[in-house]
Amino acid sequence: MKFFVDSADLAAIEELADIGLVDGVTTNPSIIAKSGRDFKEVIAEICKLTDGHVSAEVVATDAEGMIEEGRILRKIANNVCVKLPLTMDGLKACNTLSRENVPTNVTLCFSPNQALLAAKCGASYISPFIGRLDDITLDGMELISDIRLIYDNYGYETEILAASIRNANHVKECALVGADVMTAPPAVIKGLANHVLTDKGLAAFLKDWETTGQSI
Ligand code: G3P
Repeated sequence: MKFFVDSADLAAIEELADIGLVDGVTTNPSIIAKSGRDFKEVIAEICKLTDGHVSAEVVATDAEGMIEEGRILRKIANNVCVKLPLTMDGLKACNTLSRENVPTNVTLCFSPNQALLAAKCGASYISPFIGRLDDITLDGMELISDIRLIYDNYGYETEILAASIRNANHVKECALVGADVMTAPPAVIKGLANHVLTDKGLAAFLKDWETTGQSI
């Protein structure tokens, strides 16, 4: 499963990239606003930290505006992926940009039928939001498994980019279901390594090693 970082925090992305845990990056208008940075500048800098796709989201709501913005964003770097909302205008823009070989990530997906539309419109990635479904007591993971089954039924090549991931359990479940990609905040990715028995076992190893009086 590919790991994308859901952030515009350059230091956090670089820290994970240095460990080999960054296959790509996703941003959205809220993440960009939180960064306080110029949109095109920060996307250009993120694109230098990974060879993988970096999602940059359009803000127009009409298809022609989305297409125009998508072409502008695509010129920033050759690994920019244009992120489009799952509306009829977004699907139309996806179809046009995909025919121009522009990588596309259709976002704000909350139903299997929405994901089916995105695949038919040539999306490179579909971003179903797990956490936001869980937030309203629906089953976010069920959406991922439904999309996996539908895409496999018909051989759609659109990659499932599981998003709105809030915890380690979401990551585990996505890997078990077979999501192609998961995107998560840096803290969630770093937290995947944590286990109390690992800490306890290492402390015991080092305590016993101390008794040998040896060094390597
Ligand atoms: O960036 C898309 C998605 O990951 C947003 O997550 O936590 O704002 O629902 P969240």
